[in-house]
Amino acid sequence: MYKIHPKTLFVGQILQYLPSCQSTNDEASVLIAQIDPNEGLVVITDNQTAGRGQRGNQWEAKAGENLTFSLILKPGFLMATEQFWLNIAVSLGIYDALQPLVGPSLRIKWPNDIYVGNQKLGGILIENTLHGYSIAWSVVGIGLNVNQIDFGYSTATSLQALAPLPNTYDLPGLLSRLCETLEQRYLQLLAGQRDTLKINYLQILYRFQQEHRFESEGQSFRGTIIGIDPHGRLAIQVNGQIRYFAFKEVSFDIEGRS
Ligand code: BTN
Repeated sequence: MYKIHPKTLFVGQILQYLPSCQSTNDEASVLIAQIDPNEGLVVITDNQTAGRGQRGNQWEAKAGENLTFSLILKPGFLMATEQFWLNIAVSLGIYDALQPLVGPSLRIKWPNDIYVGNQKLGGILIENTLHGYSIAWSVVGIGLNVNQIDFGYSTATSLQALAPLPNTYDLPGLLSRLCETLEQRYLQLLAGQRDTLKINYLQILYRFQQEHRFESEGQSFRGTIIGIDPHGRLAIQVNGQIRYFAFKEVSFDIEGRS
């Protein structure tokens, strides 16, 4: 069960807890279709049986050991072409809550993975419903590895693996803190503080301003991330030229040569 009392205006003030479900993003979408939910409503489950990730991947998390939840927002102030600003605000909201626990090695991997070193601590799946040219609804799905230790593969990590506690991390307490930091960053976006958000995002961007290997359209190349453009495309300097990549057009070579 989850009972939280976040110090927020709306994020997490209404919580829908499901002991088990296929995907909290799907549950949130059903609420949007059926009941016009309040902005800030959070759907959370202990056991997500068919969690969805980016690029059609699955999101797997052991029951009762992690946070898997979806936040419903109504960012009608954002144009469809500005979706990336929500990625920035949400990534930073998660960063703000986790940084005091993890320390300075915490990073956001473009566009919105939560990384420590070369390991993934959390992921975000934002699904928007458009109304005309603007975003009517956003389902912000967040998966964070918290108390799970054993993943069966080396590319994932968790809070308990990185910064072990004698017992376990308090999941409702962490959720409550996340509601607060997510709301702060969302309100910053609402207030038009995009310059600050972008500066903060670049400050903690994984592999920012370092030369590394990337892959695009089957071609491997070395380049240096130098920023993001107003559409959220990744700007990589390659052989003295700047190339821009949209989501899914480029991947990081993490396992191989860097
Ligand atoms: C990714 O990194 O691929 C994104 C993972 C997002 C997982 C979360 S868990 C809660 C919410 N419900 C889902 O089905 N997916 C998101």
